[in-house]
Amino acid sequence: MNLRQISPGILYCGVNDRSTTLFEGLWPLPYGVSYNSYLVKGNSANALIDTVEIGHSRDFLNSLRDMAGIGHIDYLVINHMEPDHSGSIPLLLDMFPTIKIVGNMKTIQMIRGFYHINDDSHFIEIKDGDTLSLGDRTLQFVMTPMVHWPETMMTYCPEEKTLFSGDAFGTFGALNGGLIDDEMECGMYIEEMYRYYSNIVGKYGLFVTKAIAKTSSLPISYICSTHGPVWHGRIQEIVDIVKRLAAWEPEPGVTIVYGSMYGNTADVADLFATELNRLGIRNIKVHNATVENLSHIISDAFRYEGLIVGAPTYSNEVFPPVQTFLNAMRTREIKNKVTAAFGNHGWAPLATKAIASALEQLGCAFAGSVAMRQSMDAQTASEVKDVAKRFASMLTKA
Ligand SMILES: Cc1cc2nc3c(=O)[nH]c(=O)nc-3n(C[C@H](O)[C@H](O)[C@H](O)COP(=O)(O)O)c2cc1C
Ligand SMILES: [Fe+2]
Ligand SMILES: [Fe+2]
Repeated sequence: MNLRQISPGILYCGVNDRSTTLFEGLWPLPYGVSYNSYLVKGNSANALIDTVEIGHSRDFLNSLRDMAGIGHIDYLVINHMEPDHSGSIPLLLDMFPTIKIVGNMKTIQMIRGFYHINDDSHFIEIKDGDTLSLGDRTLQFVMTPMVHWPETMMTYCPEEKTLFSGDAFGTFGALNGGLIDDEMECGMYIEEMYRYYSNIVGKYGLFVTKAIAKTSSLPISYICSTHGPVWHGRIQEIVDIVKRLAAWEPEPGVTIVYGSMYGNTADVADLFATELNRLGIRNIKVHNATVENLSHIISDAFRYEGLIVGAPTYSNEVFPPVQTFLNAMRTREIKNKVTAAFGNHGWAPLATKAIASALEQLGCAFAGSVAMRQSMDAQTASEVKDVAKRFASMLTKA
């Protein structure tokens, strides 16, 4: 990615990663990901905001060398310490030995822990609301803990009406030539934002809501997050999506998640889908947890109002891929759903009870469960139809 100008005082100097297959060792990257870094130019000093993942530092350092005409980089502001953004700090110190690293108390503790940079003279410790003057540009620091880690903060430049938001408003997908949303077709990035939010940040909705409220009075023309496009023309749309996700506010639709070894449990999933469709529901996503990546399943389950989960009993437990999915729902404190359970067993209906109890423990509305023994018969089919009808009547979003 070449060095790009966003506005008179702000340059993009991030990188694309199209080689890592799993983000955080867990989440697939079918379209890659970008690690965004920005340079804010003032008439008395320049500041870099965040660095990039260490495996992609070559492109990053090349961009910084291209900036030679700009002069020295005086400050490195660290909004977030996850290594996808902090990884190149040691290389940057090698390149600019007098650069001052700007962060809060927790940031600096983490820099010592991750990178063993212990010389105090490298650091400028800032607090919520503090400002740093670059001459005709100013940086203002806004603490936003747990958007995604405890040290997370945002940096605002009032002269450019630009918010450097860290992981908030970030999305998967490398940048394919364009940088600012107005310059590109954004469909893929917006779809991927649901997956990014639900997979990575999903647990921290209360903190994301607080951070949005805290920055809501700032005039903002550009949101520069750490992953994906710079938001400009679509700011309102993007903020609305993240606000809804952070409040666990669902969209109309139903996700059906199941696991199956020999296809019998899959028959129940299909019958639920057919019945719900017959009852007028148009947005139904059926996921086989045995073969599909958990990342996409979490994304739909987080996004839509209805959630139906089923699995066979396996060694007296819930069939493992479905148990893993249920654990992911608990971790993300999923709420505001209408749910139902189904299960299948050779001799003991444990899976159905365990799934029903996991869904009820989330505090979600529960329409009922169907415990099938071995394979589909008229009795099971009739129970599925009854539960589907009750489930459909409980959905509040058309
Ligand atoms: C390895 C294995 C372990 C199983 N463990 C149990 C069990 O502990 N309790 C039980 O009731 N059924 C158990 N079953 C039976 C399955 O739950 C039953 O065959 C079910 O119909 C499988 O659903 P499927 O066709 O969707 O794979 C087990 C089956 C397999 C293959
Ligand atoms: Fe992060
Ligand atoms: Fe990140």
